[in-house]
Amino acid sequence: MKNVFLNNYIFISALLLLMYSCKIPSVNIDDDISARQSTSIDSGWKFYKYEKLQDADSLIYDTRPDYVDTKQVVPADAKPTEAVLKKNNSNALKPWIMPTGNDFISNPKKRFKRPKGNPGNDFAFVQKDFKDSAWTTVSLPHDWAISEPFLEGWDANVGGGMGRLPSPGIAWYRKKIFIPKSDQDKSIFLDIDGIMSYAMVWVNGNLAGGWPYGYTSWRLDITPYISPGEYMQLAIRVDNPPNSSRWYPGGGIYRSIKLTKTNSVHVAHWGTFINTPEVSTKNAKISFELTLQNDLKEKARVKVKTQIFELDARGNMQGTSLAEMVSDQLILPAGSKMTWKDTTHLTNPKLWGPPPAQVPNRYMAVSKVYSDETIIDIYKTPFGIRSLNFDPEHGLLVNDKKVYLKGVNQHHDLGALGAAFNLSAAKRQLEVLKELGANAIRMAHNPPDPKLLELTDEMGFLVIDELYDSWERKKNPLDFHLIFSDWSEQDIRAMVRRDRNHPSIIMWSTGNEVGEQYTGEDGAAIAKRLRKYVLDEDPTRPITASMNYAKPNMPLPKTMEVLSLNYQGEGIRNSPGYSHLPGINTPPLYPDFHKAFPDKMIISSENAAALSTRGTYIFPVTKEISAPVSDTTGGDSRSNYVSSYELYTAPFGSSADKVFESLDKHPYVAGSFVWSGWDYLGEPTPYYLARSSYFGLIDLAGFKKDRFYLYQSRWRPNLPMAHILPHWNWKDRLGKITPVHVFTSGDEAELFLNGKSLGKKSKKDFQYRLRWDDVLYTPGELKVVTYKNGQFWAENIVETTGEPYKLELIPEQKSIKADGKQLAFVQVKIVDSNGRTVPNANNLLHFKLNGSAQIVATDNGDPTDMTSFVSHSRNAFNGSALVILKSRNEGNFKLTVSSQGLQEGSMLLVAKN
Ligand code: GAL
Repeated sequence: MKNVFLNNYIFISALLLLMYSCKIPSVNIDDDISARQSTSIDSGWKFYKYEKLQDADSLIYDTRPDYVDTKQVVPADAKPTEAVLKKNNSNALKPWIMPTGNDFISNPKKRFKRPKGNPGNDFAFVQKDFKDSAWTTVSLPHDWAISEPFLEGWDANVGGGMGRLPSPGIAWYRKKIFIPKSDQDKSIFLDIDGIMSYAMVWVNGNLAGGWPYGYTSWRLDITPYISPGEYMQLAIRVDNPPNSSRWYPGGGIYRSIKLTKTNSVHVAHWGTFINTPEVSTKNAKISFELTLQNDLKEKARVKVKTQIFELDARGNMQGTSLAEMVSDQLILPAGSKMTWKDTTHLTNPKLWGPPPAQVPNRYMAVSKVYSDETIIDIYKTPFGIRSLNFDPEHGLLVNDKKVYLKGVNQHHDLGALGAAFNLSAAKRQLEVLKELGANAIRMAHNPPDPKLLELTDEMGFLVIDELYDSWERKKNPLDFHLIFSDWSEQDIRAMVRRDRNHPSIIMWSTGNEVGEQYTGEDGAAIAKRLRKYVLDEDPTRPITASMNYAKPNMPLPKTMEVLSLNYQGEGIRNSPGYSHLPGINTPPLYPDFHKAFPDKMIISSENAAALSTRGTYIFPVTKEISAPVSDTTGGDSRSNYVSSYELYTAPFGSSADKVFESLDKHPYVAGSFVWSGWDYLGEPTPYYLARSSYFGLIDLAGFKKDRFYLYQSRWRPNLPMAHILPHWNWKDRLGKITPVHVFTSGDEAELFLNGKSLGKKSKKDFQYRLRWDDVLYTPGELKVVTYKNGQFWAENIVETTGEPYKLELIPEQKSIKADGKQLAFVQVKIVDSNGRTVPNANNLLHFKLNGSAQIVATDNGDPTDMTSFVSHSRNAFNGSALVILKSRNEGNFKLTVSSQGLQEGSMLLVAKN
């Protein structure tokens, strides 16, 4: 086998090219799979997790600092603290892991050499002949914790913050793959989308490398460790520390892995960069870079041809090539890399832009590498043509048109499915966000699964791709601050190099509320270092980091082009009802930032942190427009629920109404990202005993909270809609004050209780809801009729329902692919004899499936429900529950849901190929 490549970049100019032309044959794009094969190796892994940490092997990446787990409930905006020193440990395997990141270290002198020796090779689990048949068989993406029972109570080993599931731990994955003799001269790689965390990979007993940060995608060159003609044994050790995250990280190989085989001369890993420096509807200039890698011990002569094709809405390539770039002959020295750059133009390009005003059109660049007349590599790069301008006064312009950012923050988990990435579940999340009217997503606080960015490209979301939640200072004792000094260059370059061709990404964020906001010039120096790495990889997008503490006169904001403010814009703990609370206290800072940085665009990268439990209403209701949750305002620390009047917040937060007012009073702010779009696992502020968040506009199961409609009324002003809260089933409130609030995209509304008008109200300036706060409860019908500009606009009716009577099943899909991956989501509603959902019904449900399919998970969106996600029985929560199904086999299957005393519900689903 040949040598591993040398890692020297050689940026060539046209002058370096040998100036001879040659005829390049025209070949169908997909005609030569021998050029490059990238195959999923997600199925058939063997898995073993140590039950107790003390039983685990000692093949550690690095020693971790001692710390005391105080199980404290630290507020999200607490000041991050200094790292605790680690002890040296000569047994640590870090020196063998560091070389995996060499491709992302720009200074050749700083790259790592693999030390001598082969640690771990005498350990049974890495050896070829180890019998792993007793281990569990799993498929990737795999999250080892999500199907486990919840850990309850104040003293649980994993508390509310990390989602009460056993994601910490040490485990092994093994898989055998046959490598045919014909691969003798190939370069062979593992392309890993993400492993949570501290992954270390042995190939045929050799420690080949690894990567500690769980959210980075990375490539491992395994060529030197395999013998073609034989089975290759992979063994991957995964180590997820306790107290390492402020949310549920998941555990294990939670994203996909591909085995990629190329010829020795090939397009390098993430080896293309496409951007569009000049864009109009008449013409677009496309700037293209392609990095070639020569793994041979001798020099290679190649040529490259790149053709541009249009993609349809589903991503299929259309027609013939629209433009073409052809290189002269390129000479790659032995073991080297070289970047070829060229530009081309497209006339009448179809631009990429966010709906509804624009269309997310996409193109595909297909690059073929030729050695003489033979195609030796084919590499495809989807991209979009669009211009971005970040205007300090007018906000974001996409293709010269203003786009107000209607954004949400999203964590990476998929609710009851955990961290294991699933395309249909991710798509479902985005579809509900579209319905909401959101056009932007901040990936809080880490690079997402790469397939999520394919979806955001396809659906036209604007994305902030973010790297870390902490730099050198820590938020949790064993969070990723431990690897920051060793890995920040590699992680950030990996994020940008992987993601820079996505038209959906509009800016890079290097961090979230990092402790370095507090460390003056030292913190700013780190920001500048990270910024430099990003600019090397992509000079076309602005760089930011979210600040909840740094003020305009501090060094950190000076380091960024776009100012991302978390909560500071509308002020933190400064309004009545909040000012007595301990913690950061800041007046509204948009004007100060705008004045200090007249040349920088401002966004509200996090705001609100409002809290609610779907369908739960707690009395009395505050008369304020925003109040911190407590047992006397909107909260109930016995049930651990927060009222859905949508006025209550975390101590540092503000209700949606207050946020909207602040944004409307500062129109130069380019838009905002609410914390959060969907509920997520972990961080159950304000109730540590719960297991998932209260921040979402959408609950963990995907059911809309009332707040969804408040945002929809603002973000989709042309959609006629009206929404009444609360529900009207209040047996114990006869004659009691029961406020009624209405969210509408209209400007005026009249409320009727049992046909009698309770008055017409219109929205005043900076008013976002209409409220009838003195309604005395009497059962029956509440109806609101809304108007816009004096014309009828929309209406909504809420009725007192009868008792629970039967179960109704609402499938979100009628058929799915029988591939064991695509999911069907079925909503279960408890309805009365008139078919109306009973809004406070929590009956125990039993789910049964006949036929060739499987119940993957069930949920109900209740953050306090400790029923395991894989349970086939669970209570409905406020009228609703969710069942998630999949199938490997074709056929019809029948889902039946039953509950004592209720008429059962059933439905047929079809799985086909
Ligand atoms: C912010 C933080 C988020 C989340 C949010 C709500 O301070 O950046 O990650 O914790 O608070 O608690």
